[in-house]
Amino acid sequence: MCGIIGYIGTKNATPILFNGLKRLEYRGYDSAGIVTLDKEFHMKKDVGKVDEINTRLNFSDLPGTLGIAHTRWATHGGVTKENAHPHTDCEGKIAVVHNGIIENYQELKKNLVSNGHKFKSQTDTEVIPHLIEEIMKRGKNFHDSTLSALRSLEGSYAILALHKNERKIVAARKGSPLVIGVADGSYFAASDIPAFLEHTKNVVYMHDSDVALLTDTGMKVFSLLEGGDVNRKVDTVDWDIRQAEKGEFNHFMLKEISEQVETVQKAVQQTKEVVDGVVHSIRNAHGIFLIASGTSYHACLAASYILSKLNKMHVNVVLASEFPHYEHFLTPKTLVVAVSQSGETADVLEAVKYAKARGCKILSIVNVVGSSLTRTSDSFLNLNAGPEICVLATKSYTSQLALFTLLAYALSGKLEEGKKRLNYLWNVIYHLTSATVKEKIKELAEKLKNKEHIFLIGRGLEYTTALEAALKIKEVSYIHAEAFAGGELKHGPIALVEDGTPCIVFVSEETEKEILSNANEIKSRGGYIIGVSPTNNEVFDFWLKVPEANNENPIVQIIPIQILAYQLAVLRGLDPDHPRNLAKSVTVK
Ligand code: M6R
Repeated sequence: MCGIIGYIGTKNATPILFNGLKRLEYRGYDSAGIVTLDKEFHMKKDVGKVDEINTRLNFSDLPGTLGIAHTRWATHGGVTKENAHPHTDCEGKIAVVHNGIIENYQELKKNLVSNGHKFKSQTDTEVIPHLIEEIMKRGKNFHDSTLSALRSLEGSYAILALHKNERKIVAARKGSPLVIGVADGSYFAASDIPAFLEHTKNVVYMHDSDVALLTDTGMKVFSLLEGGDVNRKVDTVDWDIRQAEKGEFNHFMLKEISEQVETVQKAVQQTKEVVDGVVHSIRNAHGIFLIASGTSYHACLAASYILSKLNKMHVNVVLASEFPHYEHFLTPKTLVVAVSQSGETADVLEAVKYAKARGCKILSIVNVVGSSLTRTSDSFLNLNAGPEICVLATKSYTSQLALFTLLAYALSGKLEEGKKRLNYLWNVIYHLTSATVKEKIKELAEKLKNKEHIFLIGRGLEYTTALEAALKIKEVSYIHAEAFAGGELKHGPIALVEDGTPCIVFVSEETEKEILSNANEIKSRGGYIIGVSPTNNEVFDFWLKVPEANNENPIVQIIPIQILAYQLAVLRGLDPDHPRNLAKSVTVK
């Protein structure tokens, strides 16, 4: 987590770094800092969000056309000014920003301290500038010292390093994302493309263990793995800067929820050749694992129900962080489908590494092409949802569901029928995200905003929707929300129901009879029933109407709850784009 950005060029660096940081804030927002260089370093850093710090410290007077910046999601050391990046060496000649975790920092720090180095923070990052300083003392130049320092780091990093006497940025990555932006006479290096998208669409995806040297005259990449200079090609992204801006919306969350009218369609715009290729690998696999974390995991769970229904196919769905426990079942004929919006989730990458080591084939489903996951996979499918900035996954979830559903249709030889059904959903989503529906959901949010608990139930496919809906509510409104399979209530959870306990019930044609009977059991114990259903029912105290969409129910039923979660956060005075303690890309294990 954490976001980093660097710039070298002819323009004033601070506005570029400041705007970049704001676009990277979804990665962490507990403290931030910028250092620029002209004849000397000029640095400001503090705790808080980028705008708050700017109000207090005013970044705009930092001079120079070269600089690096950081927005933090704390891992090592509390949220303090001292722990905010950039970090410097003893003499203040080297400045570093870092995203990732240096696992052997304690050992390195111990050695450096015994060599007389004075540390100012509790972070793991601070060992990096001190290490470079220590190596430089032995006569090596800044670039070579940085390469040597990187060789002794264990763990993951994307770093940008500056030396006070040199007009260059050393940018390196291992396990954490870093992309280079190339424009006329200037270079950018950042955790993600939107950070510099307003300046250039030309990008170089750094490979793992690449170290780039960015100067006024060019860019050179050295590979720590290959042990020499390497060529990395410049790609052009077709993202539009407007996709990375809020536009008329108050928050990215609401913008991205509304974008689902189009993103579901974009997800299924896959060529027949691509789909046929995936269908072929699925059919030829002996054992299929779907692995993911968080919301992407819920999409995999839904997919397992859809594949069982449409294709009578069994797949294993495993949380990425739990995957290594399946070691004994993996063979070179196993297909591992790794699903991740960012393509940078450490748990997913680790699980993939594990599977690759056992010879498994890796197919990934991602939203960020060029991410670590796409590069480490044998093949990948692009969700095409455009940048998802809000920490909460919304549009990427429905895109994952749409793509899985399309594959399920394709596997039963009904690709065109699947495309047609999924394309038709734009109509339904358009209605569900309309002002009238949002008003109705706001009415419900008013009733729920002071509740301590919300329960959610569903059966079959709708159980997976209940799980995702609970995650959405809890992570943005901080109301305890918990999902149960309808049939499990009587095995324990019903003991939690009290007078007025809200319970959201997801109803489909297939599960109607049984889930409504569960709703009645809750109601007779005082529960307040909210039905997400095609038809009204006397058991509902509040009805959110959604059309029956059969296999596509997960796509349509989650949308009102995404809006509800958003409204709850706003009514509780919270910032939906920046929920506490969370970051968009979880690049730590
Ligand atoms: O980028 P990924 O899809 O791999 O991210 C996985 C989870 O970290 C992510 O879905 C997380 O649970 C979100 N906060 C959900 O809204």
